Amino acid sequence: MSTHPEVARLSVTDIGRSYADGQRIAMLTAYDHPTARLLDEAGIPLLLVGDSVGTVMLGYDTEVRVSMADMLHHVRAVVRGSQRALVIADMPFLSYASPTEAVTNAGHFLREAGAQAVKLEGGRRSARIIEAVVKAGIPVMGHIGLTPQAIHQIGKRRVLGKTRDSARGLLADALAVQEAGAFATVLELVPDQLATAITERLRIPTIGIGAGSGCSGQVQVITDLLGLGAWAPRHARRYADLRTIILDAVTAYRSDVEGGSFPGPEQTVRMDDAVLAEVLGAGALDRGPDPGERTPIPLDADL
Ligand code: KIV
Repeated sequence: MSTHPEVARLSVTDIGRSYADGQRIAMLTAYDHPTARLLDEAGIPLLLVGDSVGTVMLGYDTEVRVSMADMLHHVRAVVRGSQRALVIADMPFLSYASPTEAVTNAGHFLREAGAQAVKLEGGRRSARIIEAVVKAGIPVMGHIGLTPQAIHQIGKRRVLGKTRDSARGLLADALAVQEAGAFATVLELVPDQLATAITERLRIPTIGIGAGSGCSGQVQVITDLLGLGAWAPRHARRYADLRTIILDAVTAYRSDVEGGSFPGPEQTVRMDDAVLAEVLGAGALDRGPDPGERTPIPLDADL
């Protein structure tokens, strides 16, 4: 019996080929099995199990709270739910503080959870780490611009690279990530023209989020795209309004349960009444009159 899956997974080489062919790359975050199945079926080539899982799915206040255990749990679910997409595991805060830790933890994502690549934040400051992980045979996606794990340093989510110095810094970061061996890099919250200029200077694809249309590809947080949250960032486009759909559905369910119309005959299984009568004893199915019509039993009745 063949142990090969029916559909071959995309590799970083396939992504590089699409990029070389001028194909724009659509990437989405995924955190769970049913969503991963749908995104895979829709042909999304790159699924990122982002550490945004912390704020989007787990109720944490920042990405800084996300642990390796959280990430492994969700990466496994996404890998099980997808067959073709290349699954990228986001390395959580402090899981890549040294090259040794980075290689060990990236290895857990590939060996134990089945991911095909990892993503980690930082440009020049992370170049040494990216190099070590790539040398270990693990494909790395970089992430520069707004890096949510550094939110306590940055202060708040904002566009970076608008001044001369920060724009120069971002260009240097992009080149450092490329030279360290990353196969692609995320550009988050970067002005449109700067993101375009960086994209034109790199040999690897840039995946933008809030970085305009000049990037080689785009990534969005799936719940923003589907309209699942009460709020979405400016760079997101709502392709669906799942929040309203879900609210309407569960309100209707509640009303049906409370009104007694759910479950109906279609959702109900019946058995042979004669069999039940045998089980309960003769006459057991003769329920008698409705409780309201029953004649009260006299207190001195001989029971
Ligand atoms: O965690 C995440 O969702 C991300 C994307 C915003 C790129 O890092």
